Amino acid sequence: MNAAFEARLRGELDTLHAAGTFKHLRHLTTPMAPEVHMEEAGDVIVLSSNNYLGLSDQPEVIEAGIEGLKKYGAGTASVRFICGTFDIHRMLEERIAQFLGTEASLTYVACWNANTGLFATICGEGSAIISDELNHASIIDGVRLANKAKRSVYKHADMADLEAKLQEATAAGCAPVLVVTDGVFSMEGSIAKLPEIVALCKKYGAVSVVDDSHGTGVMGKTGRGTIEHFGLTGQIDIITGTLGKALGGAAGGFVAGSRALVDMLIQRSRPQLFSNALPPTVAASSLAALDYLDAHPELAERLRENVAYFRAGLQRIGFKPLDGPSAIVPIIVGDTAFAIAMSDKLLKRGVFVTGFGFPVVPEGTARIRTQLSAKLTQDEMDRALAAFEAVGKEVGLLS
Ligand SMILES: Cc1ncc(COP(=O)(O)O)c(C=O)c1O
Repeated sequence: MNAAFEARLRGELDTLHAAGTFKHLRHLTTPMAPEVHMEEAGDVIVLSSNNYLGLSDQPEVIEAGIEGLKKYGAGTASVRFICGTFDIHRMLEERIAQFLGTEASLTYVACWNANTGLFATICGEGSAIISDELNHASIIDGVRLANKAKRSVYKHADMADLEAKLQEATAAGCAPVLVVTDGVFSMEGSIAKLPEIVALCKKYGAVSVVDDSHGTGVMGKTGRGTIEHFGLTGQIDIITGTLGKALGGAAGGFVAGSRALVDMLIQRSRPQLFSNALPPTVAASSLAALDYLDAHPELAERLRENVAYFRAGLQRIGFKPLDGPSAIVPIIVGDTAFAIAMSDKLLKRGVFVTGFGFPVVPEGTARIRTQLSAKLTQDEMDRALAAFEAVGKEVGLLS
């Protein structure tokens, strides 16, 4: 190892340690569930997973993965267009399209890859991309890769600013013009103003793109996402999302939209052309998760009840969580090191919840981000609330 390079890395890591912002990985020895066993802390209640519907250890989902492994083996050892596509990939893609009400869909090994493989493929010279300032990092990086497009950022959820940017792009003769937003903003728990965004896109002939990674399985009466929540099924041009959260939680992402869009991504999207497909085990368990959700629409309702119960509990003991209709309930605490120290104290009291700070969120808005699951029991939420109350008093946030 290059000694000077090693010393440089150590120096940067020491700075993080000194600032109290060094991230420690925690090691679980049991499946993701409302309660898990952690090597570092014993049995803990999980309030920091995207396992919104509790499907990652659902027996039907596990069984489907095992069957997928037995039927297809580990994988094809190839990228998709060479010899790397199984019939289960087609089945899953048809299923996702049907679930979201689009013509077609295409899977990737992660939504990260879907977002970074989308924009550069469809936005060349003369095009424009207008992105919400709080969009997820994978959208930001995906838009960066589309470096021939005119790129701009509108103030978070500010429709007047979005319209101004649309006017600029259309006045410059850009085509296509894309407007991209998260469905649910992952650090806030708030949702995009999709009806206004759709109306603006129609007014200016722009293409709407929604990443609904935190909305899928959570929002909408049957868990089809933020688009269903607003009754806009069929009106968003491009939807991206993950299979690594509510829909089984293993990995995988997708782009859903028209057949022409999907065919173009198959031709040109770089993660499709130069990287392997979703493992068949994951494709099989994701299909089972979609089937399970369809057969159990009450799961999304139970999740909403849990969110309402936990939010009310936090308010009762004196916290002021950010408002929002999703399953993400953040508490702003200000300083990054304070948020991390608070999450460490919660862990000591048996609650696993992560503190987020700069650069994930703007400086001074560090937060404890709680995320609820449909499978959490009232007893588990009450025990978690008791820990929040004790730690809130210990750190001086509650009197
Ligand atoms: C809005 C959003 N998009 C994309 C991703 C990436 O998803 P994946 O884990 O499938 O790469 C995340 C994950 O945190 C996300 O929150």
